[in-house]
Amino acid sequence: MNTPSENSPSPIPPARPRSMRPPAEVTYAEELAALAAHDSHPRPPGWQLSPRGVRQFILGVEGGGLEHAWQGKPVQTVITPKFLGDDALVERCIVTLLGHRGLLLVGEPGTAKSMLSELLAAAISGCSLLTIQGTAGTTDDQVKYSWNYALLLAEGPTPRALVPSPLYSAMKSGAIARFEEITRCQPEIQDTLVSILSEKCLHVPELAGAEGVLFAGRGFNLVATANLRDRGVHEMSSALKRRFNFETVAPLADRELELRLVRDQTAALLGESGVRVECPAEVLELLVTTFNDLRHGRTGEGTVVDKPSTVMSTAEAVAVSHAAALDAAYFGRGRLEPGHVARQLLGAVLKDNPDDLPKLAHYFDVVVKARGKTSQPWRQFHEAKKWLRR
Ligand SMILES: Nc1ncnc2c1ncn2[C@@H]1O[C@H](COP(=O)(O)OP(=O)(O)OP(=O)(O)O)[C@@H](O)[C@H]1O
Ligand SMILES: [Mg+2]
Repeated sequence: MNTPSENSPSPIPPARPRSMRPPAEVTYAEELAALAAHDSHPRPPGWQLSPRGVRQFILGVEGGGLEHAWQGKPVQTVITPKFLGDDALVERCIVTLLGHRGLLLVGEPGTAKSMLSELLAAAISGCSLLTIQGTAGTTDDQVKYSWNYALLLAEGPTPRALVPSPLYSAMKSGAIARFEEITRCQPEIQDTLVSILSEKCLHVPELAGAEGVLFAGRGFNLVATANLRDRGVHEMSSALKRRFNFETVAPLADRELELRLVRDQTAALLGESGVRVECPAEVLELLVTTFNDLRHGRTGEGTVVDKPSTVMSTAEAVAVSHAAALDAAYFGRGRLEPGHVARQLLGAVLKDNPDDLPKLAHYFDVVVKARGKTSQPWRQFHEAKKWLRR
């Protein structure tokens, strides 16, 4: 059997297949175990970690690893920062989840709302999978419960025939449920949550007696996310709004922090797929600078540029950097170059509006060209303008 080189995709399934994207509680199982072993602060009922432990999990712990036993061996585990740029927001989110209101994370696309909700659920309940994905077609059944029709016909409505929704399961086990893109659902579907969030119980009228009411276990709460670009599609009722604390997640404002994030996440994504590519700092810097210029409509030198209609988010910057690095690995010489960035940039910029191409071309003609006079990476970037064609 051939052993595939580290740089080429393997047609042979690995001996122990791993899922493509494990949930946060699996990815960070060792970090969660380390924090649990060191967490001496009181844990609220139903919580796997204290609020301080949850904060440390999301924001990281400085000053070396935590010693603990992992899989029978003594190890030191570093708690990495995962959500960057707004520690106070994370603290407010944790405090909200200690109370009786749900948490609604709103913001522009790609500001890590879903990531933050997943990290919160993983740290608080040890499970981030009790998630409803909101769409225009989400039904009441998907929010509450449905039935196994074979059992329903055979036995009638019994607890055995009931198929719980993720929200139902979270209430039953006292865990955090997640509701992604809640404002994409019809208002009447969203309003199913009003009584659940205020009374913390769910009625199942088909079941008689005590079985007909599910009281939420301690530790239950809801983290929902909503994209500002979708707001207004189905405006949320004021009754439901009152049952949530809103937290706005802003795009990363610090360019250095964004550069660090893009570098680390690109390396992590490449590491997961076993691809080795050299990613020079100046090329990643060029990519992040381009995203910043186009996002703000103004360059560091003060030149005004036309903003594309799409959100040039940090998540998009990571996606472009990862794709460009893969391009370099599989079709280049294993070294990320400005040309790879230019090739991948086009798809990101033209996502919302194909008419944005002239804006990008103008950015290359004015800003990239001028910078290319004094910087080699920017000159190579400008030479790659030929890729900006549809
Ligand atoms: N402040 C931040 N800290 C860490 N990662 C961030 C931050 N801002 C953006 N990211 C990037 O965003 C990615 C996660 O994006 P996520 O899908 O959670 O965004 P979202 O706000 O839910 O977007 P959408 O509204 O499109 O659903 C992270 O993997 C990371 O690359
Ligand atoms: Mg999201």
